Amino acid sequence: MESHAEAAVDLDVIAGNVTALRERSAPSEVMAVVKADGYGHGIIPAARAAVRGGARWLGVVHVAEALKLRAAGIGAPLLCLMAIGEDAHAAAIRARVDLAAGSVAMIRRICAAAAEAGQPARVHLKADTGLSRGGATAREWPSVVDAALAAQAGGHLRVVGLWSHFASADEPGNPSVGGQLAAFRDATDYAEKAGITPELRHIANTAAALIVPEARLDLVRLGGAIYGLSTLPGGAPGWLRPAMTLRARLTQVKRVPPGTGVSYGHRYVTSAESTLGLVPLGYADGVPRAASGALLTYARGARWPVAGTVCMDQFVIDFGDEPVAEGDEVVLFGPGADGEPTAQEWGEALGTISYEIVTGIGARVPRVYTGDGAHGAARASGRVR
Ligand SMILES: Cc1ncc(COP(=O)(O)O)c(C=O)c1O
Repeated sequence: MESHAEAAVDLDVIAGNVTALRERSAPSEVMAVVKADGYGHGIIPAARAAVRGGARWLGVVHVAEALKLRAAGIGAPLLCLMAIGEDAHAAAIRARVDLAAGSVAMIRRICAAAAEAGQPARVHLKADTGLSRGGATAREWPSVVDAALAAQAGGHLRVVGLWSHFASADEPGNPSVGGQLAAFRDATDYAEKAGITPELRHIANTAAALIVPEARLDLVRLGGAIYGLSTLPGGAPGWLRPAMTLRARLTQVKRVPPGTGVSYGHRYVTSAESTLGLVPLGYADGVPRAASGALLTYARGARWPVAGTVCMDQFVIDFGDEPVAEGDEVVLFGPGADGEPTAQEWGEALGTISYEIVTGIGARVPRVYTGDGAHGAARASGRVR
């Protein structure tokens, strides 16, 4: 480890996960969702690794993310999942970025952007089948389809996809999944009868792609799974491997007497003479304050508790009588193969999901890459390993 801390990302693991997912999802195509800086793994290296592993599509949320991928020379089909009125849609259209539309207003904005770009937009119409987030409700759907057909006839856009998103696919057996699938079938039937000829229908995220085979349709939109994560109970299946390891070096070690209060508020007090180690990662780096007291660190072959309050830039571990030294490595989470905690465990211990843990890793924690393509990734992020 070159710096005091790092989030190490194995690009071969991402590529391998995508290949395994692709084999299991075939004949559905895989869209690798690389929004939010590739779930914290680095958008460009993650996208390249996913494409190398066989992802035909990439998915992001913001136009800015899509343009970043294009600027890096990534030419794969790319969908912007969230329609935001102020986004630079003309630039997206020129860059061959597909746009999502779930309202008549958004279709109008896309038409204006297409006129500005001087070329038709490629649009995926979004049906709200029960999540009650973005997309057209069953009542709004006919007017959205009508507006899209009129825009298509006017040469402003082409509807290439119809899609939706599940509310509870990660709750095995939840009846809303079947209900949303049926509602999506109704929406696609309606659109196709009205004259829309989509290339793709898609609704499945990681959880649905893994446990609801009938939801895979033409394309599965996989975020967590490509990084070896899932929101299903217990996390991702064993054939997917977590790609990120968060580790740090102890920056200071000290011996303290029994009864020593540790960190802000002295919420932890040593029960015996003890060795304290200082880890240079805090809540500004994505180590939640709620981790105080949790047995979520790993060093010298054992787990150690976070002693006292997690500060903005650092936290303390009580190593008891373990002979740790300044510079020793501490793993916060990794694949779990050597006994270290996983992001899944962090999520479970802190009442959240692994996605919040990995996307929360702060920008000042360097991402370090291994595997095929690591050199290019390091160059892009300014570090080589
Ligand atoms: C619309 C949409 N599709 C797909 C995904 C990917 O979900 P997951 O990471 O669970 O595969 C997300 C992520 O939240 C999303 O918002």
